[in-house]
Amino acid sequence: MHKDLVSIDDLEPEEIFELLESGLELKKKRALGIVEPVLQGRTVVMIFEKPSLRTRVTFEVGITQLGGQAIYLQGSDIGLGHRESIADIARNLERWVDGIVARASSHQTVVELARWADTPVINGLTDREHPCQALALAMTLREKKCDLRGLKFAFIGDGNNVAHSFMLLSPKAGMDFVIACPEGYEPDKQITEQTKDLAARFGTSFSIVRDPFEAVKDADVVYTDVWVSMGQESEAVEREKAFRSYQVNRELIDSAEREVLISHCLPAHRGQEITDEVLDGPGSIALDEAENRLHIQKAVMARLFA
Ligand code: CP
Repeated sequence: MHKDLVSIDDLEPEEIFELLESGLELKKKRALGIVEPVLQGRTVVMIFEKPSLRTRVTFEVGITQLGGQAIYLQGSDIGLGHRESIADIARNLERWVDGIVARASSHQTVVELARWADTPVINGLTDREHPCQALALAMTLREKKCDLRGLKFAFIGDGNNVAHSFMLLSPKAGMDFVIACPEGYEPDKQITEQTKDLAARFGTSFSIVRDPFEAVKDADVVYTDVWVSMGQESEAVEREKAFRSYQVNRELIDSAEREVLISHCLPAHRGQEITDEVLDGPGSIALDEAENRLHIQKAVMARLFA
C-alpha cells in the first residue's frame, strides 16, 4: 500500500476491497468488545484548518479504540504555511509522531505534508478530495448490498471534492458513475479524464449529464452534498440559483426504476440539496455511512500508522 492516503488514486482496487473487509472486521470486533490495540504507544497528530464534526470525532475515537493517542491542532495553532513552512512542519512532526491526519483548505497542503514527512499522512478533506468519505460509503454499500460491482452510483449536484473521490473510487470498485450537475459546476477536468481512463480500464461507465432525473432513472445509489462548500460562502446566492432544480426530493427518488439507497456526506443543508423526508426516510444510509467513517478510518490507520 502507498505510504499515504492523500487521494483515492493512492489505492489499487484490491487495496480498497481489503480495507472494506478490514473495516467490517473492526466494526464487528468493536461490537463484540474485542480490543484491537494496533496503535498502542503510537501518537497521531490531527491538523485541521476547517471545522469538522464527523472527521474529527471519528479519527479521535478511532485512535483511542486502537490504543493510540491523538493530538488535535488547529491550522492557526501552528501557523500552517505562515509561521512555518509546510515542509518544516512535516520534518518536525515526523520526529515525534507516527501518523498525520490533515484537513486543509488547499489540497496542495496535504500533498506537501505527505511529500516532506516520512510519517504517513491521511487526507481528512481538502478542496479536491475526501477519500475517507468515499471509503465509508463503499463500506456501507458493502454492508447493504454485499457486492459493489455492477451498482450504479448517481451523484446529484456540485462536482466537488466529495464527488471527485467517488468518481475515482467507482471504477476501481466496479461501479458505474453518473453525475448530474448544472453547466459550470462540473467536476475538475483532470479528475474527469482520470475517471474516464479508469472506467475504460475497469469496464464501468462514467458520464456527466444535466438532468437529475436522467441520472437517477436506473441508479442504485443516489448521493448529494451541499451546494455551497466550505470557503465558497461568497458564491452562495449564485450557487443556490444554479442548483435549484438539483434537489434530492421525493419526486426525484420516486422517479427511479429501482429502490435506491440515498446518502449525503453531512452536514446537510436540509431543504436545499435534500429534503427532510428523503434524508430521514427509509432509503437513507447517511447515518450508517457516518458511523462507518469510524471503522474504515481505523482500517486505514491500522495499515498506515501501526
Ligand atoms: N462529512 C464530513 O467530513 O463531516 P465533517 O465536516 O463534520 O467532518
